[in-house]
Amino acid sequence: MISISDFTLHRSLYTNSFNFALSPGTMSQLLSSSCSLTFSSTNKPYNQCSASFSNFNRVGCDFSRTRFRRLFSQQKPSKRFTFVNAATVSTGQETPVKTSSGEPFKPKRVMVIGGDGYCGWATALHLSNKGYDVAIVDNLVRRLFDHQLGLDSLTPISSIQDRLQCWKSITGKSIELFVGDICEFEFLSETFRSYEPDAVVHFGEQRSAPYSMIDRSRAVYTQQNNVVGTLNVLFAIKEYKEDCHLVKLGTMGEYGTPNIDIEEGYITITHNGRTDTLPYPKQASSFYHLSKVHDSHNIAFTCKAWGIRATDLNQGVVYGVKTDETAMHEELCNRFDYDAIFGTALNRFCVQAAVGHPLTVYGKGGQTRAFLDIRDTVQCVELAIANPANPGEFRVFNQFTEQFKVSELANIVTKAGEKLGLDVKTISVPNPRVELEEHYYNCKNTKLVDLGLRPHFLSDSLIDSLLNFAVQYKDRVDTKQIMPGVSWRKVGVKTKTI
Ligand SMILES: NC(=O)c1ccc[n+]([C@@H]2O[C@H](COP(=O)([O-])OP(=O)(O)OC[C@H]3O[C@@H](n4cnc5c(N)ncnc54)[C@H](O)[C@@H]3O)[C@@H](O)[C@H]2O)c1
Repeated sequence: MISISDFTLHRSLYTNSFNFALSPGTMSQLLSSSCSLTFSSTNKPYNQCSASFSNFNRVGCDFSRTRFRRLFSQQKPSKRFTFVNAATVSTGQETPVKTSSGEPFKPKRVMVIGGDGYCGWATALHLSNKGYDVAIVDNLVRRLFDHQLGLDSLTPISSIQDRLQCWKSITGKSIELFVGDICEFEFLSETFRSYEPDAVVHFGEQRSAPYSMIDRSRAVYTQQNNVVGTLNVLFAIKEYKEDCHLVKLGTMGEYGTPNIDIEEGYITITHNGRTDTLPYPKQASSFYHLSKVHDSHNIAFTCKAWGIRATDLNQGVVYGVKTDETAMHEELCNRFDYDAIFGTALNRFCVQAAVGHPLTVYGKGGQTRAFLDIRDTVQCVELAIANPANPGEFRVFNQFTEQFKVSELANIVTKAGEKLGLDVKTISVPNPRVELEEHYYNCKNTKLVDLGLRPHFLSDSLIDSLLNFAVQYKDRVDTKQIMPGVSWRKVGVKTKTI
């Protein structure tokens, strides 16, 4: 038995007694293999997969048919879902896009899968604020990863239930919550039938490349979770809501680093005298990135075969914490990952600068990547929803605003840190990844700008505010989590203890 005090992340969500119930299936495999992990958040090793909590279902969320429920609860839930219906408010956005029956398509009800995560939480609040009727679907597995690996967000984050109650009390707007795993088709189909979304924004995946490269079980989990989850979403749309627009989060990492310009999804090629426009070649560089490539292929195929309407948002690396909505109250605060598994480069550098840890540039630092502010993530998703793809269309947008070399980011943070009186050093650490460390990189990103995106560029003031955030919470930093511990070359079958 694990006592509740050890489960700090779930403390506000679960009280009294609670059971892990491992069952056959991928996630169970993952967790049963994870049981040998050392849970380092409290520096106590746990070798059992059994814990007790009760009242798990205190807001009436449905765990009954989910892998997640099998993992965490053997109790029968007293209520199935939380349904708090918000009034449907017109967004005032007219689009020329038609439904398959010829009616104008006006998306109003938006299902945000992965709405408890970093991008999903900010997006759910933004869409709710803009008058969309929003429902969050999430199995909260991201909070579990943190606990398993002994990681924590720099910023304290409230339980999803407290977050939603806070949002309701501040704005009067309700967001429905469906807690469950989209890999469980029965859960997903019930959720679809009851909510009947006009659009689905799908953030609900395992999104860390290093996580997918820890060991075989994490690689298998990542691909199974991401590919099966997305396939289930496609089948649910086909079966229950064929006009629903799928807005799927892909990544710029799907393209790799080719020695030619990266187009938005498609490239026109002339070969042996014949010309065609074809999907842009994908050269993913981790099992995580490969899962996104597989997703893209499945979505493209179902658009063609079933007439699904879909937008694949190939997103760059996201930085920043605040959006207009998450800044309204501390209980709405978003997560801020800085560790070597989930932390993205700029967030990590800011935290390193704040605590006096050298900025860790991997290898030569010439790796160029595409970046965007979290405020632009929410804007881009809103634009994609308000201007949906046509039935049968597989649309690809490159969702980023600027490109930086990793070494350039380190320089920017160093200068900003010096202005704040911080002594910032940079070190090169052996690159744990297999990637080019100096290369050509030039990506197109005009489609979202054409739809009206007004980018927030990485200005001095933003860096200052990120650094100030990092300084504000520096007592929460666990410096042991900063150095890379996962090697692309050494990934193996044996379950890795972190
Ligand atoms: N954060 C970035 O910099 C970034 C960059 C490019 C692309 N993306 C993509 O954006 C999406 C969101 O990323 P994020 O940073 O917000 O990740 P995150 O880990 O913070 O959030 C993902 C959420 O999905 C949930 N989830 C995962 N599997 C699920 C399942 N099977 N059923 C239900 N819920 C599930 C998790 O519990 C979590 O709350 C991901 O698809 C990611 O690949 C993110």
